[in-house]
Amino acid sequence: MTLPTTTPDAFGLIRAPRQIVFGPGQRSGLGDIVATLGTRALVCTDARMAEQPQFREMLANLRAAGVAAQVFAGVAAELPADTIVGCVAEVSGQNIDVVVGIGGGSCIDHAKVVSALLVHGGAPRDYYGEFKVPGPALPVVAVPTTAGTGSEVTPVAVIADPDREMKVGISSPHLIPHTALVDPALTYTCPRPLTAHAAADALSHCVEAFTAIRREPDPGLTTERVFVGKSLLTDSYALAGIELIDRSIVAACQGGDDRAARHDLQLGALYGGFALGTAGTAAAHALQYPIGAATHTPHGAGVGALLPYVMAYNMPARTAEFATIASALHCADGASELDRAHAAVHRVAELLGTVGIPRDLAELGLREDRVDWAAEQGMTAARLVDNNPRPLDPAELGRIVRAAFDGDLAGLLATTSPSETDARNS
Ligand SMILES: NC(=O)c1ccc[n+]([C@@H]2O[C@H](COP(=O)([O-])OP(=O)(O)OC[C@H]3O[C@@H](n4cnc5c(N)ncnc54)[C@H](O)[C@@H]3O)[C@@H](O)[C@H]2O)c1
Ligand SMILES: [Fe+2]
Repeated sequence: MTLPTTTPDAFGLIRAPRQIVFGPGQRSGLGDIVATLGTRALVCTDARMAEQPQFREMLANLRAAGVAAQVFAGVAAELPADTIVGCVAEVSGQNIDVVVGIGGGSCIDHAKVVSALLVHGGAPRDYYGEFKVPGPALPVVAVPTTAGTGSEVTPVAVIADPDREMKVGISSPHLIPHTALVDPALTYTCPRPLTAHAAADALSHCVEAFTAIRREPDPGLTTERVFVGKSLLTDSYALAGIELIDRSIVAACQGGDDRAARHDLQLGALYGGFALGTAGTAAAHALQYPIGAATHTPHGAGVGALLPYVMAYNMPARTAEFATIASALHCADGASELDRAHAAVHRVAELLGTVGIPRDLAELGLREDRVDWAAEQGMTAARLVDNNPRPLDPAELGRIVRAAFDGDLAGLLATTSPSETDARNS
């Protein structure tokens, strides 16, 4: 295992659920867990999951534990704000004690926002941004069925607002679920593209959190920012997550049969959630917002396509960290720091390409006349842009998008890499 580096000025922060349960079959503990939080539960899921035998088992399990469960099965892809408003209208006045989210990131994000609106009222738009949720929400028990977003442990929910072209986030420590109930057996049914997109998202969380900006650990940092940048505690999760995802992503994408791979990938995604939920992500996530909106492609496909190019751009600021990532990826042992850092970028590109993530933005479906627009729009995700280790402006984001559109990873690396002599002297 690759360990993070402690230094005399080390700073660490983790914000996490009160309880995290992990293991195949652990979903059968759902009823007992929810019963410790109340007797009236709202269960949020989507139409597909509501028809699954595992879902019916979980409902029966809740009822056997004495919990009255009301199901909202209308969570829609991309999480439109109106669906959340509709769900709240449906259940308000019913004295819900606890909200259960069962499904992918969309269902869990839905449960998180509903839990806040049921306590604080208003509409989702009242809480866009950071620290806008004024106090504790209803407890959420999050049960992920994809291995990707880590939403079961994060303080953010991502919503599609019909009045905005791009998706928008609500970020608040009050949105962190009370319990993450992570049963990797629920991911056995994920088809290959969904597995690949979710895994690419998880890998991006680990890499972007591990290479995020490092802020001075001044008093106030942890209360002024939801996402504080690189930290010792998130580094540990990020590195372990990279190692777990590296050893499982290809086998997991071949189907549900390789259970060990499915379990490793789910654990890696959970660790990615810890890393992203406190450190935050950066340029790949900032650029995915406009590029996802322009191409109508899943979040994980977009961040995965962008990740190698963002790593290449960040090379001058994070050469040592990329070399450490190479160790977690078991590549280029014994080579110079710069060569190991480059090997990490190529290995990430190779892994993602192998599981079908587009190798460039043209393949993702971006039109060439949207390249400059995507760079300009990427700047509007200010919290993500600020979290990038190398300063960004529209021109620099434009370099990343241009290289990613052309598939010119080697060209971008050639312009961002110090010579061996510079690297040794820096
Ligand atoms: N809150 C966070 O921390 C965070 C982080 C990253 C992404 N996100 C958000 O999460 C969403 C993406 O979530 P996602 O990638 O988990 O997908 P998703 O929740 O959007 O689901 C995608 C599709 O997969 C299906 N599905 C889910 N589990 C399945 C299973 N086990 N078997 C077969 N099909 C299954 C769903 O029914 C749905 O049709 C996006 O809205 C993204 O913005 C949130
Ligand atoms: Fe993500």
